[in-house]
Amino acid sequence: MIGDRSERRASAGDDDLRKRLAVFGQEHLLAGWDSLSADMRQKLAEQIRGIDFARIERWLRSQTAQHDWAALARRAEPPPAVRLDGRGSPYTPEQARRRGEEMLRAGRVGVVLVAGGQGTRLGFDHPKGCYAIGPVSGASLFQILLEKVLAVRRRYGVSIPLYLMTSPATHEETLSFLEAHGRFGLPQSDVTVFCQGTMPAVDAATGKVLLGEDGCISLSPDGHGGMPAALRASGALDDLRRSGVEQLFYMQVDNPLVSVCDPEFIGYHVLAGSELSTQVVAKHNPLDRVGNVVSVDGQVRIIEYSDLPDDAAQQRQPDGSLKLWAGNIAVHVFSVELLRRASSGESELPFHLARKKVPYVDERGTLVEPAEPNAIKFERFIFDLLPMARQPLVVEVDEASCFAPVKNAPGAERDSPERVQAQMIALHRLWLEAAGARVAAGVAVEISPLFALDAEETRQKVNLKGEVIEPLYLRST
Ligand code: UTP
Repeated sequence: MIGDRSERRASAGDDDLRKRLAVFGQEHLLAGWDSLSADMRQKLAEQIRGIDFARIERWLRSQTAQHDWAALARRAEPPPAVRLDGRGSPYTPEQARRRGEEMLRAGRVGVVLVAGGQGTRLGFDHPKGCYAIGPVSGASLFQILLEKVLAVRRRYGVSIPLYLMTSPATHEETLSFLEAHGRFGLPQSDVTVFCQGTMPAVDAATGKVLLGEDGCISLSPDGHGGMPAALRASGALDDLRRSGVEQLFYMQVDNPLVSVCDPEFIGYHVLAGSELSTQVVAKHNPLDRVGNVVSVDGQVRIIEYSDLPDDAAQQRQPDGSLKLWAGNIAVHVFSVELLRRASSGESELPFHLARKKVPYVDERGTLVEPAEPNAIKFERFIFDLLPMARQPLVVEVDEASCFAPVKNAPGAERDSPERVQAQMIALHRLWLEAAGARVAAGVAVEISPLFALDAEETRQKVNLKGEVIEPLYLRST
C-alpha cells in the first residue's frame, strides 16, 4: 500500500511537470524520466521548476530585435575619458588620488571579485582562480588578488569587505581552496563567497532546452552580469548598506596585474559623481580583441570586438590616432546604489544570446557531440550597466602595468599564462630597477603584493646589493 501511494505521488508530480512543460513545447525533458533514479528525478524536477520558460521564449523571439551593432558602431564616437596624462578631467591626478584615499580610509569601499566563469579556453580542470600564475612563486591567481586586497587594507588601516562570486561550476572547490589557504590572510568576517545563477542552453533551431549526459539539464553560469542579482540574493547588498560601503571595486579573476582599489581611479569616480567608472587601455591595433568603450548617441557603452565592423574599427582622428581607441579591461567601480537598481528589476540587464557548441543527449538517449555551434546560451554582461549609470566615467590606464589576462591555454599566441608571466616579470623588473637594483638579463623576478604594491613602495623597501642573477621572489608576511 505504502509503495502504491508513493508511486501515485511521483506520477502526480510528473503530470504536473508534464503540463507545465507542454505549455512551452518542452515535454522532451521528461523523455528519460522513467530510467532516472529518485535523486535524479528530484534534481530534474527542481531544475525545471527553476527555469522561466516564458522568459526564454521571449528572449529567443527578441533575438532579431537585438541591437544592430554595425549601425551603432558606425555612429560611435570616442568616449569622454580621463587620459593617462590627466587630460579630460577638471581634477588633477593628485586631487583624485587624495579623494580616493579618503574614501578608502573612511571604509566606504569594498571589493567584488567575479570568479564564476568556466574557464573553458584555459583548459584547466579547476576554478581559474586556483591556477598557479606567479612566475617565480607559483602563487595562484586567488593568492595574488587576495593578497592585494590584504595589502590595501594594511596600507589604509581599514577593513575592506571582499565579495567573491562563484558559480555552481566553481563554488565548492573555491571554498575549499580558500579555506585550505586561510583566505590568504583575510579575516573570515570580511570574505563573503556567493554563488551566481545559471541558465540552460537551448537548441538553436527549435528553442528546446538541451539535456546533459546524466539525464538532467546542463546549466551554465549566467555571465558576469549575473553579479548584481546574485549579490542581492546573498544578502550582501543589505550588509553593504548597513556597513556604510558606498562603492565596490570590481575585478575579474584572470588579471593578476589589476591595481586593486586604485585610489586615483576611485577618486576620479567619486569626484565626478559617477555611478560606474571603467578603466580602459589604448588599443594597439584597430582589430584588437577587446571590447570597445565608445559613446553612441550620448551614451557610453561597450561594443564587443566581434560586433565591430572593420570599417568602423579602422576610423582615424585627424591626427592619425584611432577614433575608437578605448579597450575595455573589465576593471570597474560601481556605486552600491546602481547595483541595488540593477538587481531590483529597475534597470535589468539584458541577456546576450551566443551560438555555441553544446553536447547534448537526444530523444533516443544518444550523446551528440556537435561539430558546429548547435545551441544558444544566455549570458548577461556586467558592462551593460554603463548606459544605465549616472555620469559614467572612462579612465585610461597603462596596459603594461595594469592588464594581463589569463584567457588561453599554454602555448597560445595571446593571453596565455606564459605571456602573463612575462608581463609580470617585466613590470617587477622595472620596479626594482627604478629602486636602484640591477637585474641580469633573462632573470625572473616577482614581487608579492604583501612586499610592495607599486614602484614607490618597492623603492622604499628594497635594498639589494649586487646584481640579481637568480630568480627572485620578494615577499613579506
Ligand atoms: P570570461 O568571459 O573570460 O570567461 O570571464 P571564462 O569563463 O573565464 O573563460 P572562457 O570564456 O570559458 O574561456 C571573465 C571573468 O568573468 C567571470 C570569470 O570568472 C572571469 O573572472 N565570469 C564569467 C563569471 O564570474 N561568471 C560567468 O558566468 C562568466
